[in-house]
Amino acid sequence: MTYQAIAIDGPAASGKSTLARSLAERLGIVMVNSGAMYRAVTWKLLENGTDTTDPAAVIEQLGKMKIVCGHDGTFSTITIDGYDPAEHLRSSEINANVSRVSAIPQVRDKLVAMQRDYLKSTHVVMEGRDIGSVVFPETPYKIYIDADPSVRNSRRSDDGEVDSVEKRDAADSSRKTAPLKVADGATVLDTSKHSIEGVTEAAIEILRNQGFPLPEKPSYVIPEEATGGKMMRWIYWLGWLSFGAAYRTFFGLRIIGDENLIKAGPVLIASNHQSFLDPPLIGNLYKDEMVFFARKTLFKGPAKWVYPQWNAIPVDQDRPDMSSMKTVIRKLKEGWRVLVFPEGQRTLNGEIGEAAPGVGLIAAKAGVPIQPVRIYGADEALPRGSGKIRFARITVKVGPPIVLSPEEFKAYSGKEGYEALTNRIMDAIKAL
Ligand code: DC
Repeated sequence: MTYQAIAIDGPAASGKSTLARSLAERLGIVMVNSGAMYRAVTWKLLENGTDTTDPAAVIEQLGKMKIVCGHDGTFSTITIDGYDPAEHLRSSEINANVSRVSAIPQVRDKLVAMQRDYLKSTHVVMEGRDIGSVVFPETPYKIYIDADPSVRNSRRSDDGEVDSVEKRDAADSSRKTAPLKVADGATVLDTSKHSIEGVTEAAIEILRNQGFPLPEKPSYVIPEEATGGKMMRWIYWLGWLSFGAAYRTFFGLRIIGDENLIKAGPVLIASNHQSFLDPPLIGNLYKDEMVFFARKTLFKGPAKWVYPQWNAIPVDQDRPDMSSMKTVIRKLKEGWRVLVFPEGQRTLNGEIGEAAPGVGLIAAKAGVPIQPVRIYGADEALPRGSGKIRFARITVKVGPPIVLSPEEFKAYSGKEGYEALTNRIMDAIKAL
């Protein structure tokens, strides 16, 4: 079997790793971070106290290192002399030394050979500086990504890193061996103004144009403990059927992006909120049961009995309700699919409003795939403050899921992390 390589090149902090990771997850292939290899060698040299300004000393030490590159099914791994240095690779010392080390031809020869070895056993999406120009010049699938220096600098400091990206770019672009450049045949993609999801979609489009054999359905990495849906009980089914029929008959329900829908395992569905029609609308995207939330005050009369039957959990809308957030996290951890409205309340004017930071906290703590969904037209069908149904067309757009690695989830911790993840989710909804 011949294996394919997708080459992603670009300057520091342009979003290469993020794009490569999301493509790998989307396409079900291995992501190789070639920069991590140069960083790992640099780490070992610094550990040994080797003077990185002395190429002869670097080459001598390199000869003694036992470097083992592999992958865990999704991401590349590396050990040097049996040790995995992953947690040390983003230090400021390494940022300051790695360009010098990676400019040494003998270092490049050794690591490029290991990078090429990946293609003996797997398809890869590999990111770096010379992947399209030197490592896999023959591959037709090449993307060069870039972003404004100000955006790149702020991305790095958002990551909590000390890294002078322009200095490193200047060194990486001006070196003699394999400098950073747009490879022949590469398509340039500017990521300055795009969300991660937007960049991934644009990259998919580029790969399609370059003739990459994209799978018909995205292949997402679903957690192994995925339980699948919960079979419908009759009372849930009755609601599901009646609402579904009504949506199709009266509102000409149209679903766009159905192929993006993760149908098994725990998923946090994040949707804009337009009307009371929204929860069953989302429920109708699936053929099994899921969990919803409803305002506490709605649990009265017959609803008091029927809402819990429809897996609706009461929330207190007037104040931040920690206990309901905990319930969502628990439900997700139990394997349920749960719908949340990050805005917390229905829109007044049809626009998407401000999100409360709760959804980022829930997503980060639960660590499950996040499915962004956007509803159109439900605010016209049943406007807020009106009891009257109108015949307006409802459209539901399902976006590509945000599937994060455990490390990425970890990076979204603390108040700022939750806010950043909330913004990412809201951007993904708005992009639909
Ligand atoms: O992608 P990164 O910032 O982690 O890469 C760290 C350094 O490694 C980068 O400044 C230059 C070098 N590098 C390289 O020379 N060639 C590659 N294919 C990848 C990285």
